[in-house]
Amino acid sequence: MPATQETLHREVERRRTFAIISHPDAGKTTLTEKLLLYGGAIRSAGSVKARKSDKHATSDWMDIEKQRGISVTSSAMQFEFDGYHINILDTPGHQDFSEDTYRVLVAADAAVMLIDAAKGVEAQTIKLFKVCRMRNIPIFTFVNKMDRAAKDPFALMDEIESVLGIRSCPINWPIGVDGDFQGVYHRDTNLVELYTGGDHGKRMVEKADIPLDDPALHDALNEGYIERLHEELDLLEAGESFDLEQVRAGQLTPMFFGSAVTNFGVEPFLERFLRYTPPPLPRRSDIGEIGPEENYFSGFIFKIQANMNPAHRDRLAFMRIVSGAFEKGMEVWHSGTGKPVALKQPQQFMADEREAVEEAYAGDIIGLFDPGIYQLGDTLSDGPKLHYEDIPVFAPEFFNRVRPRDSMKRKQFQKGINQLAEEGAIQTFTRTETGREEFMVGVVGVLQFEVLEHRLRTEYQAELVMEPMNFHHVRWVTKTPKPVEELKLTSTSGRAKDSRGRDVLLFENEWSIRLAMENNPGLELAETAARKAEEE
Ligand code: G4P
Repeated sequence: MPATQETLHREVERRRTFAIISHPDAGKTTLTEKLLLYGGAIRSAGSVKARKSDKHATSDWMDIEKQRGISVTSSAMQFEFDGYHINILDTPGHQDFSEDTYRVLVAADAAVMLIDAAKGVEAQTIKLFKVCRMRNIPIFTFVNKMDRAAKDPFALMDEIESVLGIRSCPINWPIGVDGDFQGVYHRDTNLVELYTGGDHGKRMVEKADIPLDDPALHDALNEGYIERLHEELDLLEAGESFDLEQVRAGQLTPMFFGSAVTNFGVEPFLERFLRYTPPPLPRRSDIGEIGPEENYFSGFIFKIQANMNPAHRDRLAFMRIVSGAFEKGMEVWHSGTGKPVALKQPQQFMADEREAVEEAYAGDIIGLFDPGIYQLGDTLSDGPKLHYEDIPVFAPEFFNRVRPRDSMKRKQFQKGINQLAEEGAIQTFTRTETGREEFMVGVVGVLQFEVLEHRLRTEYQAELVMEPMNFHHVRWVTKTPKPVEELKLTSTSGRAKDSRGRDVLLFENEWSIRLAMENNPGLELAETAARKAEEE
């Protein structure tokens, strides 16, 4: 039975969809696990870690992830807490996968930026933060590992402002830092929550909050801490005050201090985060902005991932529902083929298992079985034939000439390359100007080459020969005064075709791009290519 408007409204209002971004090792897996623990999605901490290592045992393409301490794949998990229905999107931590992160963030309505208290803002935090900024989504900061050596909290606030360029507003404030953590003061409730160390975070922490002006606080905490807290609170009063509108516009980041591994500060964070983050946001389409409560189902594909389970060789397309309600057995219009498709075997992901989806609403992420028809950015709708905004393609910066080591494996090679190109991990080009046909792969971060090599070997049984090329920039020819072969270019520049047969120019440096423009009046170049055919 179709959902009534009333049900849709109720379900949309309680949905929250967000991603956690962090530098590797800041504690993203730990925090995710604790959120699932509070959400009742897992019974004891350790399941997610265990799942991580199980995966290593069964799927050795995760080896790269293990060796590098990075998360290459990203998935979506969901749980319930306090009446909210939450979708967490996992993002890869390594900057070489920032394009993947960008796509995931397109599906999110907010981001949690996790920072290691001792390390502050790290390289990948900066890169991932910038990606969040491109979408103007609200960003919440969780300063983790307060139980250990930590930077001064004021210094951390300064760092966030000077390095990332966003103002912060602490919602709670640590008492005793740098290995002497005593607890936090919640500025919104005036309660002090004392840190006891817990039982290493296996269970949820009991709350023992003491009002700041309660004499009992003096029995629980040394005078020195209380005095310092008052001084620091006075200083904070002079700073940014909390402004929900600015938070939602991504101009002010609410800041929380805690220790994910001991669960300390996780629940207070989650409660406030859920209150301050917006319910599912509208998305832009070619027929205008589409809100979550439209009376038809629609959404877009933001991630494609094959062979997540090597035993099944399946290919999943992850979809963000933008409007309406999903019902089992639905048949909807698909922008990629222009035809109706049945949404096959839709799944949602729990901490350690997949579940068939019976119903889902705007804001939710569902995984669809993909027989090879979906492409990144495709729209699905059972209302108007609309197209959601294209997900931009980042320009590759590294190029390798690639061929199969064994020419008999050409078919597997091609299949694997096509798959990875469709997932958006690589872009392919062919070049003939050197007199022979050269096949090239371009990537945004060099680690993608390792993923390519590894996945082709393990999933397609094709060994690769890769030779780095000196190009670092690609430009799509959008207008040319003469045939591309006759353009005047420097000797180190190249000409090639992309996977759709469009002309591209390859350059070693910015200088040769400028020279190409100067030497060929009327030449027009674009930094990125449209993903979709209709935009060509
Ligand atoms: P990541 O996904 O961001 O890469 O980080 P992950 O959660 O795997 O955490 C990295 C390390 O930091 C882990 O230690 C984890 O236990 C530790 N950690 C996470 N949160 C906290 C915290 O609040 N306080 C302290 N002191 N440590 C924290 P590990 O030794 O690498 O792994 P494990 O032996 O705990 O499995």
